[in-house]
Amino acid sequence: MAERIAFELNGETRTVEVAPDTPLLYVLRNELGLSNPHFGCGLAQCGACTVHVDGAPTRSCSLPVSQAAGTKVMTLAGLGTPEHPHRLQAAFIAEQVPQCGYCLNGWIMTAAALLRDTPHPSEQQIRDGLSGLKCRCGTHMAILRAVRRAAQAA
Ligand code: FES
Ligand code: FES
Repeated sequence: MAERIAFELNGETRTVEVAPDTPLLYVLRNELGLSNPHFGCGLAQCGACTVHVDGAPTRSCSLPVSQAAGTKVMTLAGLGTPEHPHRLQAAFIAEQVPQCGYCLNGWIMTAAALLRDTPHPSEQQIRDGLSGLKCRCGTHMAILRAVRRAAQAA
């Protein structure tokens, strides 16, 4: 049975009426019209659906929306804009990372939390922080370059 569930999304309060076990990813994409968090595996394995929930990188395909009630959710669209990109978004463009681009939401959202908590990470901290994410196009070396570039821009 549908319930009213409210949370903050990129700084605005949003209320949806959905079954409480609906994955947050489905609510973001299907109810609220966001296109950045992607459906990849649907099993918390690839990271394409990553958003921040109260600042924590979270795989939204596997979080029931009821657990997002009352939280602050931030998506890639809330991280920066084309006019004012986050330094990671600028670095991914400068390093020409994207091939198909499908995975990049997850890498950028995960790296954003890493750089927020550890502004000048070591190479190992970057690799550890991004472990568990998947890019089927094999852009991993370009992604590492972009995260290093963004860290240097801090
Ligand atoms: S779609 Fe959520 S982790 Fe793959
Ligand atoms: S750029 Fe295509 S899956 Fe990563």
